[in-house]
Amino acid sequence: MRIVLGIESSCDETAAALVTSERTILAQRIASQDEVHRPYGGVVPEIAARAHAERLAPMIEATLADAGMTLDDVDAIAATAGPGLIGGVMVGLVTAKALAMAADKPLIAVNHLEGHALSPRLADAELEYPYLLLLVSGGHCQILLVEGVGEFRRLATTIDDALGEAFDKSAKVLGLGYPGGPALERLASQGDAKKVPLPRPLMGSAEPHFSFAGLKSAVLRAKQNMPLPVQGCVAGSVIPSAYTDADIAASFQQAAIDCLIDRTRKALKGVGHVNALVVAGGVAANTAIRGALESLAAEFDLPFIAPPLALCTDNAAMIAWAGIERFERGQSDPLDVSARPRWPL
Ligand code: KG4
Ligand code: ZN
Repeated sequence: MRIVLGIESSCDETAAALVTSERTILAQRIASQDEVHRPYGGVVPEIAARAHAERLAPMIEATLADAGMTLDDVDAIAATAGPGLIGGVMVGLVTAKALAMAADKPLIAVNHLEGHALSPRLADAELEYPYLLLLVSGGHCQILLVEGVGEFRRLATTIDDALGEAFDKSAKVLGLGYPGGPALERLASQGDAKKVPLPRPLMGSAEPHFSFAGLKSAVLRAKQNMPLPVQGCVAGSVIPSAYTDADIAASFQQAAIDCLIDRTRKALKGVGHVNALVVAGGVAANTAIRGALESLAAEFDLPFIAPPLALCTDNAAMIAWAGIERFERGQSDPLDVSARPRWPL
């Protein structure tokens, strides 16, 4: 059995975890920076990096203590090396390098997206490659064919906003604060999804990609009681009465789901054999989205796999797990490996 220490610091969660090759999370700690960034309505990179620098070292110590371990008990150290906010990524990677050097342990530089992409295999020992993965987070919206460790085929991506970004920006328009995704989902459950005629960008399109910028702008127009230039609306008409925020939220969420399902169905039709439909990333915490994907998987007679909520949003267990998958295949990285703000799979 191998034990890997994972470190995550690419956005606004500082996290450390100890995970075994037998899929046990021995210990994990996460400190969210939501409170730090809330006054600014979004993540401020400089402030995030400083908060990571303050929190990470004591957090790693505490995580080891939680498991009753020292670095000597660990087989390798895995840290997110990108993509993400470069200051935060550097804090995590430099810390991992220092620990690897001091304790003479191998270093594994993990792609954050690979962490999300492989996390379902930490939760489910039965999940075999290849699987179709919908990766939906604050920074990414992609459909990937996952064929193995480091073997990804990107079938679709967003041409503008990520889905989590669209949730967050729409939530901001509705005055729901930051981060908006979970709050928007709560409000949506009280609204009528048929009330506001919002667009479904690229739905039915011959190309495989996503687009959410137009949907987000339409939310702003609905909130401001402006005309909505979409099917079902008379061009230039002014919406007669203001929509409730709950109706806007519900209609937004339904439009997003319709786009997501349409694009994922297209990918499933064209992809050939896969063992499962899998969702990962922060937006996978959304219950309505999970439900719609589960029905879609049933259409194709596929199992639907969604990791537990705590593994969907940013965490270090998924980074440790990606490290284990790489380490078990004999892979590690030199101590001079660079942090990468951009690092497509
Ligand atoms: O994966 P993640 O923690 O960080 C990134 O790598 O981006 O994803 C965070 C994103 C945010 O945009 C957040 O609003 C969204 O996931 N999110 C949700 C929900 N929970 C988190 N979006 C919709 N519904 C949710 N329940
Ligand atoms: Zn993430």
